[in-house]
Amino acid sequence: MGFPIYRPRRLRATENLRSMIRETTLSVTDLIYPLFVVPGKDVKKEIASLPGNYQYSVDKVMEVIDQVVSLGIPAVLLFGLPSYKDATGSSAWDDKEPVQMASKAIKAKYPELVVITDACLCEYTSHGHCGVLENGCTVNNDATLPLLAKIAVSHARCGADIIAPSNMMDGYVQAMRTALDAAGYTNVAIMAYSAKFASAFYGPFRAAADSAPSKGDRKGYQMDPANVREALREVELDIEEGADIVMVKPAMAYLDVATKVHETFNRPLCVYNVSGEYAMVKAAAANGWIDEKRIVMETMLGFKRAGAKMIITYHALDVAKWLQA
Ligand code: PBG
Repeated sequence: MGFPIYRPRRLRATENLRSMIRETTLSVTDLIYPLFVVPGKDVKKEIASLPGNYQYSVDKVMEVIDQVVSLGIPAVLLFGLPSYKDATGSSAWDDKEPVQMASKAIKAKYPELVVITDACLCEYTSHGHCGVLENGCTVNNDATLPLLAKIAVSHARCGADIIAPSNMMDGYVQAMRTALDAAGYTNVAIMAYSAKFASAFYGPFRAAADSAPSKGDRKGYQMDPANVREALREVELDIEEGADIVMVKPAMAYLDVATKVHETFNRPLCVYNVSGEYAMVKAAAANGWIDEKRIVMETMLGFKRAGAKMIITYHALDVAKWLQA
């Protein structure tokens, strides 16, 4: 049955009608706010390539955490810049380093706020790769796994509710799940960066987290942007190994991957609206070329429509405010 019997515009005539047939909603509880914590005191330094986002020392991070809580955002994702780097990234499992100290401080003040910690080595290794190097250029998968396990246990010990391993080593979820369980952290969840692509969209993040590889690239462990079927195999593996939440990253250029994961697997799906995606929107908005609020809200809705339940985004504070308005 078609026109003129069926007229889709009939149900678009007023806001109430539109609201009745609206299929997707965006809520503040869909949001996760990423934060960068650094050593030192009294540091709040704006990240040039991520305007409106800052590096915070542990004492200062509570200012933004207060805001996160009062806006009703349920979770933060912590990244750390360590006070020292070495070949194995040992500061990553040091309980005195920024991510661990911030987790403790946040959980002490807001036990109900969900603390997710990024578990990777690139911010912590002197060479900037996400694992132990062999021959100076390839990351040795199996030598890296025990280090990832130590990071997970250190984060859990300091109060993390969810560990988010972003390193793309094979077997990483299993290594972390086994170590967490052995240490008694059976209730600490794992959010796996299951389908993480080797993407140019991470550029601004690497400047913010001081984590760019000094040599080479990450194509030997992160996924080829051309592959969606391989992404499904990655997700399947992570679920078999014990992932509680699976992720597709980046988000905007990979919505087809998100939808396939959502339709294929019964696990909550998170998408990561990464630094380069944020920077492009901010730059265009600063030039007056786009309506920032409308563009961002439309993008968030797109993530939800694609099947994401959770959205990690540097826009989270703004989105939460816009949802209240
Ligand atoms: C660490 C990590 C990266 C991001 C999150 N965790 C960078 C990378 O893999 O190089 C990127 C996040 C962003 O761009 O916002 N491995």
